[in-house]
Amino acid sequence: MAGKTAKKRGKPESVSDRLLAWYDVHARDLPWRVRPKARDKGARADPYCVWLSEIMLQQTTVATVGPYFRDFVSRWPDVESLAAAPRDKVMEAWAGLGYYSRARNLHACAVTVAEEHGGRFPDTEEGLKALPGIGPYTSAAIAAIAFDRKATVVDGNVERVVARLFAIETPLPDAKKEIRPAAETLTPETRPGDFAQAMMDLGATICSPKSPSCNRCPVSDGCLGLEKGIAETLPRRAPKKARPTRRGACFYLRNGKGEVLLRRRPDKGLLGGMMEVPTTEWTQAELDEDALLGAAPVNAKWARVPGLVEHTFTHFHLQLAIFVAEASAAQAKKADGIWVPEEELDTQALPTVMKKAAAHAAPDAGPLFKGK
Ligand code: ADE
Repeated sequence: MAGKTAKKRGKPESVSDRLLAWYDVHARDLPWRVRPKARDKGARADPYCVWLSEIMLQQTTVATVGPYFRDFVSRWPDVESLAAAPRDKVMEAWAGLGYYSRARNLHACAVTVAEEHGGRFPDTEEGLKALPGIGPYTSAAIAAIAFDRKATVVDGNVERVVARLFAIETPLPDAKKEIRPAAETLTPETRPGDFAQAMMDLGATICSPKSPSCNRCPVSDGCLGLEKGIAETLPRRAPKKARPTRRGACFYLRNGKGEVLLRRRPDKGLLGGMMEVPTTEWTQAELDEDALLGAAPVNAKWARVPGLVEHTFTHFHLQLAIFVAEASAAQAKKADGIWVPEEELDTQALPTVMKKAAAHAAPDAGPLFKGK
């Protein structure tokens, strides 16, 4: 009643009402999502799918996640089957999404939910946050989307929408302190899960970083950024620090039996727990071949492959020199690691940078390298 009276008096609908009405019509069709029309027919979000998609989406875009998500749910349709999977298989399916500690935590989380929660995800932010790999963002997203808890979900898209709606001119990352409380004022009591997804969709499709389509925006009326003519310039950002370049080498060792030496990286640290083509430390020094060869896995006749493998991580750019050698039987015996048939390299949990290293070392070997 109160709402009706208010509308009659000409009070504008709230941001959340207008956004939810827009979402009812324009919600993107995403493989983990139950859209309003399907929910009206009784469909419900599967917490396992919501959790899996949110962990994947921390890494990369919706478009990239789609095939990985489908692959995971076809191999492991529920949290129990994922928990029962060998960790290496999970790492292998994850390879290419980056940040392998997330894949390890993903598996650890599945095991915890299966073993300690009877296969059911906790349905509160606090309960979810206690699980491996689930931080404040992911717990809010799962609580809202899977359980319709009133939680405010602030990812990069939402940050942009809120900074514009409220004309927050403080540069990121400091702006986060203003954006979160502003976002909290928008989160509705009803349909907080749809609201969170609507904010994400608005940011992804209309309130885009460059040239936002304000003429199609359901909440342009009342957008302070638009009113001030500064929407497109928000959020502001503190100038980026330049990415440093680090350098190192990889050693591609064959044993004369069609096998290549791989090693497992330590669990802690970058690419933790993944396989590698044996590599040196990645330091900032200029490439010094003698020093690099001092860190080779065995003292063999190493030949440098011309060129460099380049790969960019979040915090640094990496240049790798690639060396190849054939190990004698004695050298092969001494080498620390596992010997893998060259044509099976693509079945190993090799991170992208190591796939690049292997492809550079042996451009014609095995399915991994087809089409490169
Ligand atoms: N980005 C992160 N989580 C998302 C979701 N659930 N839907 C769309 N985009 C997202």
